[in-house]
Amino acid sequence: MNSFYKFNPKNEVDYWFNNIENHGEDVYSYGPKYYVAAILERILPVLKIPNSGKICMLGTHKCYSFSLLENFFGEKNCIGYDLLNITKRSNIIEGSIIEIEKKFIPPLSFCWNDLGNYSRNPYEKMFGQIVFSNRIVKGGFFIGRDGSNRARFPVETLMDELSFESTNLLNYFIDKSIDYSDLDESILKSHLISIKK
Ligand SMILES: C[S@@+](CC[C@H](N)C(=O)[O-])C[C@H]1O[C@@H](n2cnc3c(N)ncnc32)[C@H](O)[C@@H]1O
Repeated sequence: MNSFYKFNPKNEVDYWFNNIENHGEDVYSYGPKYYVAAILERILPVLKIPNSGKICMLGTHKCYSFSLLENFFGEKNCIGYDLLNITKRSNIIEGSIIEIEKKFIPPLSFCWNDLGNYSRNPYEKMFGQIVFSNRIVKGGFFIGRDGSNRARFPVETLMDELSFESTNLLNYFIDKSIDYSDLDESILKSHLISIKK
């Protein structure tokens, strides 16, 4: 393991599950008003996701957004990853993402990288982006923060190098005529939706 690597899973579990009040008002306790859930509600009926490959969420937390995926695609088609499988689901892999055995990551047709954030856990967030985007099948989608993230990780460049075509979610909503009047435009603008060519 790299010497600069400092990550204490116990502290992180404590932060993510026992300190939600410190996460800022805009996360709405990671319920239906959290932006990931609000965006998924709108784009799921529109996305044309290939049949092969699993539907994945990196960072499932209490599973509100993950349950939207399960309801839409079926539980057996979904797979989630988090430090803690607090809802005790059989389709969630518990542990730090960097400990996951790569050979067990299935081919994916959709993945949202909502693992912590680029400020708190940049190494893990980048790791998730690199490793999981490599598992996306042709025509599959990957969603995550763009290159304006706090670690300045060049997400557009990575996705380009891996043969994805990307645009930001605001452009996607406009292009597909999806209503975003009650969503935060800056969040849409700073998230990239990438399709594997
Ligand atoms: C923003 S929350 C996810 C919210 C969830 N996607 C939703 O829409 O309700 C971020 C999650 O990333 C998880 N996380 C942070 N670091 C991680 C790591 N190294 N490995 C796996 N999960 C991690 C946290 O435990 C937390 O549940």
